Amino acid sequence: MYVPQDVLTNDDLAQRIDTSDEWIRTRTGIERRHIANGHETSAQMSIEAARAALQVADADPREIDLIIVGTATPDHPMPATACRVQAALGAMRAGAFDLNAGCSGFVYALAMGHQAIASGEHDLVLVIGVDTMTRVVDWQDRATCVLFGDGAGAVLLRASEGTTGVLATLLGSDGSGGDTLIIPAGGSALPTSAETVEKRQHYLQMDGRQVFRFATHALPLAVEQVTKKADLRMDDIAVIIPHQANQRIIEAAAKRLRVPEERFVLNLQEYGNTSAASVPIALCEALQQGRIEQGQNIVLVGFGAGLTWAAAAIRWGVSAAYVPGPFYHTWWRWLIYRWASLRNRMRRARESVLVLLIRTVDRRNNHHNGR
Ligand code: ACO
Repeated sequence: MYVPQDVLTNDDLAQRIDTSDEWIRTRTGIERRHIANGHETSAQMSIEAARAALQVADADPREIDLIIVGTATPDHPMPATACRVQAALGAMRAGAFDLNAGCSGFVYALAMGHQAIASGEHDLVLVIGVDTMTRVVDWQDRATCVLFGDGAGAVLLRASEGTTGVLATLLGSDGSGGDTLIIPAGGSALPTSAETVEKRQHYLQMDGRQVFRFATHALPLAVEQVTKKADLRMDDIAVIIPHQANQRIIEAAAKRLRVPEERFVLNLQEYGNTSAASVPIALCEALQQGRIEQGQNIVLVGFGAGLTWAAAAIRWGVSAAYVPGPFYHTWWRWLIYRWASLRNRMRRARESVLVLLIRTVDRRNNHHNGR
């Protein structure tokens, strides 16, 4: 996982807008959030998280077959952020694409990665959930800007025989609720213009109450359904890792599922809602805290813009304790990253020189033709 170092507390926010630590804490459970600085973007945070995942798994980036980035805040509408990640990792064999399913993006991407392996097509898939929500929230809208933070989380899926791994996945969508969580401008329906900027339509707009109602229904239902699909009972699930939007949503889900709240991982007090990054960040912290043991069943569940929801039931198959690989593997990865960076810079430099040459030749020709 990767989260920016810069932190914004509720009290910091209360100095900028009409809100209070008490309101944010009691309505959401959020206390702080990590905010990307000028240099941190979705691609950069993804690269950091991906490199950390490769280190933990002691894997060679050149073996990755596919990179899927779940995000609603890519660096650019085009090219895909996944391609930036592929280039920076030196993952020369990998295909790469972005997937937008709002805050469900990571669990959607995990399901796609799992299917790519189950089909026999791929052996090693890198799945990332990332969002830089603080770049798309309206800092004048107190109902939304207090909720979000930035970050990235990554996992590597590897083909294996045996009874552990992804047991079942479930994807859902109800596009009729699309307008309840939307960035109206910047797409083909409403291209960015001076007018859309003036109307602040390039920022996230949310009907909080509608989303709340949807989430308290969708989250427990998705957990129930994926558990059943995996042929398990609720008692067989050791840990539930939900999207971290609001503590009250998670409490309501626990009550409805009749599952003790302690079985849910909750870290939104520290990070706020990091959108597609929230599930992998919570998974990473649960592992670091020793909450997940080898052989245990866990459920990941997301919900968000679309409206979408997604869940995955997993039997944890690898040692939860981090065992570093031989030191020369770390050096080798470092060399691959340096080489990838050099290669990318050389390519950009070559393209700049080519453009310069073409312009000079054009200017000469125009001059000779008397234009
Ligand atoms: N500080 C102080 N007061 C506030 C703030 C704030 N930051 N924000 C809103 N208020 C006020 C409102 O203006 C309103 O005042 P009024 O009664 O005088 O009109 C009052 O607080 C209550 O507002 P509500 O919107 O009814 O507050 P609610 O209890 O519903 O909580 C919240 C709002 C926290 C947004 C809640 O609805 C929620 O969590 N919804 C789900 C949001 C969510 O999960 N979004 C992420 C989806 S994932 C994705 O894809 C991005």
